[in-house]
Amino acid sequence: MNSVRICPSILNADKQKLAHEISRIENHADWLHLDIMDGKFVPATTFSFDESIKIIAQSRLPVDSHLMIEDPDAQGPEFALAGSKSVTVHLEATQTPRETLRKIRRHGARAALAIKPATPVEALFDYIDDVDMLLVMTVEPGKGGQPFMVDMLSKVRALRALVTENQGSQWIQVDGGVSLETIAKAASAGADTFVAGSAVYKSENPGFIVDELRTIACASLAH
Ligand code: DX5
Ligand code: ZN
Repeated sequence: MNSVRICPSILNADKQKLAHEISRIENHADWLHLDIMDGKFVPATTFSFDESIKIIAQSRLPVDSHLMIEDPDAQGPEFALAGSKSVTVHLEATQTPRETLRKIRRHGARAALAIKPATPVEALFDYIDDVDMLLVMTVEPGKGGQPFMVDMLSKVRALRALVTENQGSQWIQVDGGVSLETIAKAASAGADTFVAGSAVYKSENPGFIVDELRTIACASLAH
């Protein structure tokens, strides 16, 4: 079923065995979610641009790059050029949202805009025509394994209403604390694209969890 997308995050996977870790979800997931942190926009650092390019080049799954970096206006389009099929920039970081989103699209990727928990959802409304996906963070960005912020679901509902009203095809993604216990709430609020890190990689059988997440999300979809 194509109306739901499950995007495992390799943030909490074993970095020494990344190829193996990716192979465990490759036949189950829709996208590979790559969290890029620069130690400035968020305290942690994850993959450098060169490391990211290698992962993008080697991945059989399309890569969804989530840029938690200070300067996404320069790097966002570079990720698109490097073959990342979706590139997400944070509204709190970009200086030129529209221009950057358009460049990402011109370089052949889906363009997405994200907001942190403290940012009001209305801040996204103006950019609806320039995005292919809107990301509502359901934890404070920066690390995996945090509890799902249920309060963020009002943002998801507002975005679903906006997309429906505009007869748009934008995907609505949630990221942070998504698990077998929380995904139904997110799907029934209107999300259709789900990032899951620790729920997938803390399990003995990551592929099975991806399948389970999809089954629950499909059964709970709001639209
Ligand atoms: C957090 C990252 C997430 C993270 C999710 O800043 O953007 O993608 O990997 O991890 P979980 O699913 O464990 O909350
Ligand atoms: Zn992420």
